[in-house]
Amino acid sequence: MGVNIAGRSFLKLLDFTPAEIEYLIDLSADFKRLKRTGTPHRYLEGKNIVLLFEKTSTRTRCSFEVGGMDLGMGVTYLDPGSSQMGKKESIEDTARVLGRMYDGIEYRGFDQAIVEELADKAGVPVWNGLTTEFHPTQMIADMLTVRENFGRLRGLKLTFFGDARNNVANSLMVVCAKLGMHFCACGPVENMPEDSLVATCREVARQTGGSVTLTDSVAEGAADANVIYTDIWVSMGEPEELWAERIRLLSPYQVNAAVMEQAATDAIFMHCLPSFHDTKTTIGAEIASKFGICEMEVTDEVFESARSVVFDEAENRMHSIKAIMYATLK
Ligand code: CP
Ligand code: NVA
Repeated sequence: MGVNIAGRSFLKLLDFTPAEIEYLIDLSADFKRLKRTGTPHRYLEGKNIVLLFEKTSTRTRCSFEVGGMDLGMGVTYLDPGSSQMGKKESIEDTARVLGRMYDGIEYRGFDQAIVEELADKAGVPVWNGLTTEFHPTQMIADMLTVRENFGRLRGLKLTFFGDARNNVANSLMVVCAKLGMHFCACGPVENMPEDSLVATCREVARQTGGSVTLTDSVAEGAADANVIYTDIWVSMGEPEELWAERIRLLSPYQVNAAVMEQAATDAIFMHCLPSFHDTKTTIGAEIASKFGICEMEVTDEVFESARSVVFDEAENRMHSIKAIMYATLK
């Protein structure tokens, strides 16, 4: 059966069927081939998109910019604080203005409700470039990366270590459930995903042959895992004061050589990035001087190891965001 998501917004993966998600992964692989072979693909010439960022970004912004330009589109970037949105103009009014000028709108910011409202009022496709609750574009890149390594997705076990209630962990739980994978959240009870989202994902997994497990046991999380995934312990928008508590709660769930040792023999390490695996960042250096730790969610050893596919994953953001824009705008 054909899949057509033209004209749709891309706000969260719960809105998409497994076939639609698989179509986006396939399309991402197609765009990767075109890019790598230097084949022009200016399929959306004449269209224009706007990127609204209320939080900082490297990968997502650059993926939308390069992806948009490769597809032949005009791209406007509005950085945190440089538009009227929120302060002087409501989300609804912003959506109605931008929807008259642009063919598609990317939003990175806070509540999921904001991106949902933008999509409701804009009249053009809106793409979620990360909210407090979800990071769906990251998932298409991640699943492409997993598939490149294992040749399949169904039946694989992916364990997320650490702050298992953040946007990336929530989205991984959804995408794994949708694609018949076994998702495991490994962390302290305080940082588990919300009950209602877990229940929704378990119901999805029941239909696809996947599963959702929550555990505070590192041994259980690592056992037989094909993918070990982690993310930073304090996300954008959360208060700095949280660092002390998160370091205390999440240090036992750091991804280190001992964790990788307990995983499947062919396990890969993934991280959406950016990552605190050393002290070569302002925050990393501050945390080191304040708390005496030089590595946080992942050790430098694992990050730099042959099992780490984090830079393939980062590259795949561009191919997959291009696929999402093309599929919804064509
Ligand atoms: N993974 C990711 O979204 O990275 P950026 O914050 O740099 O966009
Ligand atoms: N959980 C992180 C993801 C960054 C890509 C954050 O929201 O800051």
